[in-house]
Amino acid sequence: MKPKNFLIFLAVALAAGQSFGHSDIGTQPVKTDALPDLGEEWLEENPYRAEAAGEEVWKTAVEIGASGYNQNCARCHGLEAVSGGLASDLRFLEANLDGDEWYIERFRHGYTQSGVTKMPAYGELLGQKAAWAIRTYIETRPDDGALDEFRDQLAAIRDALTKIAEALAAGATAYADISAEVNAHKAALSKVAGQVNTASGAPTADSAASRAHGSLDASADGVAKAAEFLTVGLSIAQ
Ligand code: HEC
Repeated sequence: MKPKNFLIFLAVALAAGQSFGHSDIGTQPVKTDALPDLGEEWLEENPYRAEAAGEEVWKTAVEIGASGYNQNCARCHGLEAVSGGLASDLRFLEANLDGDEWYIERFRHGYTQSGVTKMPAYGELLGQKAAWAIRTYIETRPDDGALDEFRDQLAAIRDALTKIAEALAAGATAYADISAEVNAHKAALSKVAGQVNTASGAPTADSAASRAHGSLDASADGVAKAAEFLTVGLSIAQ
C-alpha cells in the first residue's frame, strides 16, 4: 500500500472504529456472580427488590448495579443517575411493573432515532442479571434534596463518629461506653435512612445514611467507614 492510500485506509478504519465505539465497544462487563440466577427468559419485573428477594440480595444488587451503571450508563444518563441533560433522568422511572417493563424494553433493545443508534442494545451485551442490578441501583437513588432536612443531624453524627474513631485508634479502653454510643448513632442512622425519599417511589433509598448504617459497628474500622460515608454523602448533596 502506498503511504497515501495507507493514510486513507487508516482514516476510514478509525472512523469506523469510532462509530462502532458508540454502540458496543465501550461496554464494560458486569460481575454478577453474587446475585441469584434468573434463568434464560427475560422477566418483566425487578426480581431483586427487597420485598421479593430479601434485604441481602437487594443490597448486593445495589452494589453491583452501582458499578454497572457508572461504567456503562453514566456517560449519557449522568453520574449517580443524576442526568446532566444528555439523556433522560432515570431516577424518575417508577419502581413498579410499568416502570420495569419500560426499563427492560429500553435496556434490551436500546434506542434508535432515524436509523441512528442513540443508545446501544444491552440485552445480549450485559445480560439479565446486570439489567436488574442496574435497575435496582437506579430506583434506589435518593430524590433531589432528599438528604437536606437531615444534613445537620448527619453532620453531628459524623463529627461524633470521627471522635470515637480517634479514641479507638488511640487505644480507648472503655469499650462498653463506646459500644453504647455507637449503638445510639446506629439507631439514629437507621431512622434517617428510612425517611430518605426516592424519586421512583421505591420504599428504601440507597443513601449516605443507609450506607453509614450498614457499615457501622463498634470497631475502629466500622466507625471510620461510617464517618467516611457521611462525609462523602454530605459533600455530594451540597
Ligand atoms: C450513548 C448514550 C447512552 C448510553 C450509554 C445509555 N443510554 Fe439509555 N438512553 C439514551 C437515549 C438517547 C435515550 C432516549 C432518549 C431519552 O430518554 O433521553 C435513552 C433512554 C433510556 C431509557 C428510557 C428512559 C425514559 O425515560 O424513557 C432507559 C430505561 C435507559 N435509557 C437505560 C439505560 C441504561 C440502564 C444504560 C446502561 C446500561 C443506558 N441507558 C445507557 C442514551 C444512552
